[in-house]
Amino acid sequence: MNGSADDDARRHERMRRRTAKLDREFAFSAPGGGDCRPTYTRGEAEQRASTLLAKLPALPAIVLEASKPAGASVEGLEAAVEKDPSLAAMVLAVGGSSFFRGDGPPARNLAALMEQVGTAAFRGLTFVAAFRGIFGAALPWYGYGERGLWRHLVGTAVAARKLGRAMGLHKLACETLFLAGMLHDIGKPTVQGLLDSRAPSAEAASQGGTLTVLEAELRAVNMTHTELVPLILDIWGVEHDIFAMTEHHHAPQRAGAHAVQASLLQLADVLANLAGTGLEHEYGFSNVPLEKAAGRLNLSLELCRSVQEELGWTVAEIATEADSAAG
Ligand SMILES: [Fe+2]
Ligand SMILES: [Fe+2]
Repeated sequence: MNGSADDDARRHERMRRRTAKLDREFAFSAPGGGDCRPTYTRGEAEQRASTLLAKLPALPAIVLEASKPAGASVEGLEAAVEKDPSLAAMVLAVGGSSFFRGDGPPARNLAALMEQVGTAAFRGLTFVAAFRGIFGAALPWYGYGERGLWRHLVGTAVAARKLGRAMGLHKLACETLFLAGMLHDIGKPTVQGLLDSRAPSAEAASQGGTLTVLEAELRAVNMTHTELVPLILDIWGVEHDIFAMTEHHHAPQRAGAHAVQASLLQLADVLANLAGTGLEHEYGFSNVPLEKAAGRLNLSLELCRSVQEELGWTVAEIATEADSAAG
């Protein structure tokens, strides 16, 4: 993304407005205690985050084509493939995983793949392929190694779609949940970028794992990864009203009309963390217990455990396909 001074000013103003909204709605404040102090004032954090967001790569042509409200066209896909043949190959390879194609044969080209999986699932597929590069870096503060965040996003997306189907939700709603899973933690690289040598370790910021990730982020840098999601979608020009649940995946009780979707996303996130998807060590922050997250949706622990068990294998298959396409 090319960040002009005007773009920076607009981003900053959007962030200021959002902060005021968050303050009003949730009275967000970092818990005190210990010798942990945020490295930045809120104003400094916003300024630095704006600079980091300006460097975010644009969404690739294939994702933009797949995200068109009327769905991708064959001509549009062909043009997108020409612009980025390696990403097109990755979309095709990941689409060949059993999670996406089910029992069908591997598709020969993107148009056939879109026909096979449907336009909504195809859109999710392009995010999986594109995010491997965009969000592939290690985020040590959160416990993610190389491609760890990407694996966590894929794991949460897969779990969200499986849970949605188990609850009997409409196919389109399940694909929206898949996308929400892919998007839910995309603010983490920006928070990681705000952490400098003065910043407390995750261990210190979370008081030895007793505070939530949002509380630890506020204590470290005065900003949370959840508030950054809509800003990133704004920069990309992705319409984000349908992803309102992503902002509340750590506090679904605050999601109002989106409480069910936010609860489902929270449960998917908890299952991905329990499965250790993308994590180099155990999840280092206080997390909502599985029983509570499942209870909000009246889902049985047996069902949740079976989704958790399938996650490792499904994400590994998708990652293997993506790796083989990357060469
Ligand atoms: Fe999160
Ligand atoms: Fe997450």
